[in-house]
This record gives sequence, structure tokens and C-alpha cells, in this order.
Amino acid sequence: MVIARIGGRVTRIKPLVAGNWKMNGLGGSLSELAALRDHLAASPVPEADAMMCPPATLLTRAHEVLSGSGILLGAQDCSPHPSGAHTGDISAEMLADAGATAVIVGHSERRHDHGETDAEVHAKALAAYRAGLTAIICIGETEEQYREGHTLDVLRSQLEGSVPEGARAGTTIVAYEPVWAIGTGLTPTPPEVAQVHGLIRTVLGQMLGDSEAGAMRLLYGGSVKPSNAADLLFVPDVNGALVGGASLKAKDFYEIMSVYAGSGI
Ligand code: 13P
Repeated sequence: MVIARIGGRVTRIKPLVAGNWKMNGLGGSLSELAALRDHLAASPVPEADAMMCPPATLLTRAHEVLSGSGILLGAQDCSPHPSGAHTGDISAEMLADAGATAVIVGHSERRHDHGETDAEVHAKALAAYRAGLTAIICIGETEEQYREGHTLDVLRSQLEGSVPEGARAGTTIVAYEPVWAIGTGLTPTPPEVAQVHGLIRTVLGQMLGDSEAGAMRLLYGGSVKPSNAADLLFVPDVNGALVGGASLKAKDFYEIMSVYAGSGI
């Protein structure tokens, strides 16, 4: 179940299902957000929180669609800088101004497409805190690192490099997204996810102390869909999902959330 065991104590954490639309979505896609809002109003899933992270161009309109619904609004990236001569970049303050309460930082597509380093991800997480946003910090190993058995070392080093010292459970979420599972239909086995998430919580405990680490949401991401959500989300130390492709359709996203309905969490 969605329970974190740390320092011998057991902490209950309300799960979060977050959708990452990536570079998908025009104005017409807001109808999917409206459909999700209406589904959740008609058949709520009070056991879990929902968040959607559309592209920055849709944030303001998405904020209007979601207003009063309880569905959280997140963004997909931010500049480490608050303002200035950084053409094309968007600051965390601008995202907050557009209605976001969270921002994804260090997604593997940013790390790989744009060469983002752990130090940059760390700076972006600090920018999120500065603007009053929750930072969703992504980590994950490549297929080669997975095959060579380096997963745990890679994740430890990404956590140590990307998660700021002062990170707090209320404003930090860590998402484990194995690069080889993103958009491929492949996923780690539930025991592999359990092992990795256990390690993540242990490393966070060493970095931030047991009470912050024990209360922090750890999301799994990578090919989560309605058919595998129950297997992946009821793994120890998994406190929700970061969903890509399946978040584009309200029906699929709602079905993923529904695995928590009546789960007694
Ligand atoms: P998919 O769910 O499409 O595999 O994407 C996962 C992801 O990258 C979410 O951030």
C-alpha cells in the first residue's frame, strides 16, 4: 500500500497522480481537461490528488478550466533565473503568475535533449521554491545503465546532485522515471520498482533527515496506463504516478486515478 517505512516508523502519504502533457496540446485539448474535471466532480477519487502539467502556452487557460475543481496545475520546466535577458525561457515566478502551483524539473527529456545537468536541475528546484512552487524532481537511469546494473548508483548520484539540501516534503516530490520505460510500453517489475523506491527514500533520509524523507511523495513514471496502474502503484514507497501519454485522454487518466478509489488509503 501507499506507505513509507523509514527509521522504523510508518508514514501515510496521500498519493498524487500527475499528468505531463509534454509538447502536446493546443487550445482544443482543454476539452480533455474539462472532461477530467467533470468526471472527478461526478465520481470523485478522494483517496488521491490529481495534477495536470500542460505546456506553458496553455497554463492560463487550463487554470481557468480547473478553477475550483481541486485538480492541481503544474508546469513542465522553469528557468533558474527570476527574470532577465534569457530569451525564450520562462521563470518559476511566471509559472506561478499563470496559475501553476508546481513545476517538473529535470525530466529526462530535458536532461537528454538539452543536456541539463544535476546542478542545473538543483538550481531549477531552488527557483521553484523561490516562487512558491512545489518542485517535482525527476531522476532515472538509461537503458544501458539499467542493463549494466548501475541503476541504484545512478539514482543516488542524481538525487545527491539534484535535490537541494533544504528540500521539504511539503514542496518537493521525487519522480522515478526509468528512461527506457518512457513512452516504450516497457516497465520495471513491481519488485524492481519497490527496490528502487526504497533506495530513493533511504538516500533522501540520509540527505534530508528521516522525517522529511518519510513524508515525501515518490512518484513512479514510465508507461503507466490503466492496464498496469494497479500493479505499479500499490508497490511500497510508491506514492503515485507521473503519467505521460495516458494523461492526454481524460478517460485514461481518470482510470489510472481510479485504482485508488475505495482502496482505503
Ligand atoms: P509515458 O507515460 O508516456 O511513458 O511518459 C512518462 C513520462 O515521461 C512522464 O513524465
